[in-house]
Amino acid sequence: MNSDKILDILTSTSEYVSGQSLAQTLGVSRQAVWKEINALRERGYEIESVPNRGYRLSATPAFPDAHAVKAALNTKIIGKELTVLDSVGSTNDYLKNLGANGCKSGTVVAAREQVSGKGRLGREWQSKKDENVMFSLLIRPKLAPAEVAAVTPLTGLAVCKALRSFTGLDCRIKWPNDVIIGRKKLAGILTEMSAEFDAVEYIVIGIGVNVDQADFPCDIAQKATSLFLEAGVRYDKNKALACLLDQIEEEFLKNDLSLSCEALEEYTALCATVGKNVSFTRGGVTVDGLAVGIAQSGELKVKLADGAVCLVNSGEVTAQGIY
Ligand code: BTN
Repeated sequence: MNSDKILDILTSTSEYVSGQSLAQTLGVSRQAVWKEINALRERGYEIESVPNRGYRLSATPAFPDAHAVKAALNTKIIGKELTVLDSVGSTNDYLKNLGANGCKSGTVVAAREQVSGKGRLGREWQSKKDENVMFSLLIRPKLAPAEVAAVTPLTGLAVCKALRSFTGLDCRIKWPNDVIIGRKKLAGILTEMSAEFDAVEYIVIGIGVNVDQADFPCDIAQKATSLFLEAGVRYDKNKALACLLDQIEEEFLKNDLSLSCEALEEYTALCATVGKNVSFTRGGVTVDGLAVGIAQSGELKVKLADGAVCLVNSGEVTAQGIY
C-alpha cells in the first residue's frame, strides 16, 4: 500500500520530506501523495504539512497500530502476522481459536480493550481501555509438553529485560513470572497450551503490561503500578510492544526454548523473590521458608526451618515485602 510506503519514509526521519520527493519515490502524482497523507491522518497519524518544506510525522496513533508496531519490529518470525482488535473478550481466547484453525507460529493478537481479560489461577485481568499493552503470542514448538516448561520463565525474563531496556526502570521478576517495580506489579503473563500426550499443538502466551494507567480498582490499587506512575513518562505503546516481541524472540531463539545456564543466571539475578522469606501452601498447610534460588526447570528453591530445601513449582507464593 502506498500509505504504508509513505509512512516508512516519514518514520525514518524527523525532517520534512517534500511532496515532490515522495511522489517520485512512489512513482505517483503529488495529488496521490496528498490523498494518502489524508488517509494516514484518518488512521490517527499526525502529519504536519508546511508549504515549500513538505510533510513531517509528529505523532503516531493510539495503540495498537499494526504498521507502527511492524515499523519498530526487528523479529524474524514473531509478530509478522499481527492482528489488532478494538475490543475482545480475551486476546488469549481469540488466539487459541486462531490456533485451532491453523494460524502460523509467531502470530500475535493485540487489543485496545479486553472485556473479560484473564489472569493466572483463574483470576481476572483488569485493564483500562487504551491505557495499557495487552497482547497474546502463539508458538508451535515441535516438542513434547514436558519439554516446554521453560517457556513461561523465559517469557518472564524477556518481558523484564525488554521493559528495563525500554524505560531504564528497575523492573524485577516476582517468581514465577510477574514483572514488578518495587513491591508492585507492572506486568503479568498467562500461558496456555493445547497438546496431545506427546506433542504440543500450540502455546498461547498472553502478556499484559500496565503502561499509562494511573488509577486502579480498589482491590488492586495497593498492589499495581504502571510505567507512567513509575517514570512520569507517556511511553509509545506500539514501540513498547515491538520491543517486547523482539526480546521474546531473542530469548526463545538464543536459549532454544529451555532455561539455559545463562538464562537461569539472568533470571535469578533479576528475581526479587530470591533471598526473601516466603510462604506457600502445600497439602492445605501453609509452609514458611527462605527462597534461596531457582532450579534448572524453573521451580523456586525454598529452604525450610529444618534446613531441607524443597522445590515449589506452582500456585501462589507470598514473598515478604512484595504485594
Ligand atoms: C497474571 O498476572 O495473572 C496474568 C495476566 C495476563 C494478562 C494478559 S492481557 C493479554 C492476555 N489476554 C488475557 O486474557 N490475559 C493475558
